[in-house]
Amino acid sequence: MKKRYVYLIVIAILLIGILLLAKYAFQNDDSSSESESDDLSELVESKPLPIPPLLEDVDPDPDQAEFHLTAQQGTSEILDGVESKTLGYNGNLLGPVIRVHEGEKVKVKMKNELDEATTLHWHGLRVDGKYDGGPHSEVMAGETWEPEFTIDQPAATLWYHPHMMGMTAKQVYEGLSGLLYIEDEVSNQLDIPKEYGVNDFPLIIQDKKMDASGNMEYAPNMTDSMRGLLGNAFLVNGAISPYLEVPQGIVRLRLLNGSNSRIYHFSLDNNQTFYQIASDGGFLEQPVEMSELQLSPAERAEILVDFSQLETGQKIKLINTNLDATSDSHNDIDVIELMEFVITDEDSGVEDIPKQLTEVESLDPSNSVKTREFVMAGVGDSLTINDKVMDMTQIDEEVDFNTTEIWEVSNKRSGMHGGMAHPFHMHGVQFQVLDRDGNAPPENESGWKDTVLVQPGEKVRLIADFRNKGIFMYHCHILEHEDAGMMGQYEVK
Ligand code: C2O
Ligand code: CU
Ligand code: CU
Repeated sequence: MKKRYVYLIVIAILLIGILLLAKYAFQNDDSSSESESDDLSELVESKPLPIPPLLEDVDPDPDQAEFHLTAQQGTSEILDGVESKTLGYNGNLLGPVIRVHEGEKVKVKMKNELDEATTLHWHGLRVDGKYDGGPHSEVMAGETWEPEFTIDQPAATLWYHPHMMGMTAKQVYEGLSGLLYIEDEVSNQLDIPKEYGVNDFPLIIQDKKMDASGNMEYAPNMTDSMRGLLGNAFLVNGAISPYLEVPQGIVRLRLLNGSNSRIYHFSLDNNQTFYQIASDGGFLEQPVEMSELQLSPAERAEILVDFSQLETGQKIKLINTNLDATSDSHNDIDVIELMEFVITDEDSGVEDIPKQLTEVESLDPSNSVKTREFVMAGVGDSLTINDKVMDMTQIDEEVDFNTTEIWEVSNKRSGMHGGMAHPFHMHGVQFQVLDRDGNAPPENESGWKDTVLVQPGEKVRLIADFRNKGIFMYHCHILEHEDAGMMGQYEVK
């Protein structure tokens, strides 16, 4: 294991060891301090992957749902023996999976038990501005917010997280995020894995910056604020290097890049290919076979992995091949082991990768009533869209209700290497990517999306139909950039 975070963890463990040694004079010192890396790998790899609970729907009516969430403070033992202060919904870290059905009327009661204000944003959900949970929907400490909406979009893996002006990076980093699954006739009828926690697994991938004591407090330095925080510890569902026992067949993984800033390139360490079946906003028309999947912050992908050719007991790792996100060191390649799949002798119940998943109706550019331009620029410590920083009191764009528009999003080059890539996210819609620099998007970007990575110098054209009224955000989903004002507001009316 020659990964960077390991060194920090080793240092942390050693420090704790030394402290313990100093505190207690003792004779049977059998363990710790020596042969660090071996001990450490066992320590780090010993935890099973935490599977977030499915949130109970407290409304007995089958066409309606009511969910209760509490944003709360807690502590989590991310490194063995070290308690970190964390935040969670209904728990110490992260939140439960909320599962809803297309057409369902949903009511949520979100109680804020933090000692600061927060908001609850439904990332990827088509709802009216007043229920979107953006920075205008502050929920003060001790208060409860009760949004209501009807699910009006196809099956997808969405997520929820806070969106407090200037506080999003901190609150998400400290643990406030959860997944929102939409199911529909298509997802119910497809012959794909759909048993939660059995052959259909959520994977929330995040990096955290551990200090020497193993604490993951949010304390960005200047560099972190400018390029976005990059951590030295990698968590899947809140655990470092967990393992997951999987059936010896086809398994569905729903990946969310829930990191503040890092872009991941996921692959399996046996070089086996897998199939992406869904992007941010739902199923692709056909599975896309790939050996590496890139996800920028906030993007999701559902993939099918066929473990049927592997032996019982075999271990396969999910790895990240990371091009260092600092613009000046593109040749610094790290391989990070994120988690391990342990193949059992269970049957997954699904034998084939389907040929066809759904039909995605393409939005027609000739229906567009307006083309808007958005230029993202990160020059030095100035982070802007169309040369502006976010102003809560100003609506930047006005969009007519029930129309279709094309948004041209570009990333202005700066500096020697062109600057950073920025993931552009729109609230209130799911969009389609028309083209990247005039070329058709890759196959896995041919479906519904709500976040798209734009490289320095690149122009990406998006098309969206605006079916919900109210005020919505568009922004860079590097959370430090968003907090620094790389965000704007549009109003649909
Ligand atoms: Cu993931 Cu503005 O949100
Ligand atoms: Cu969002
Ligand atoms: Cu950015």
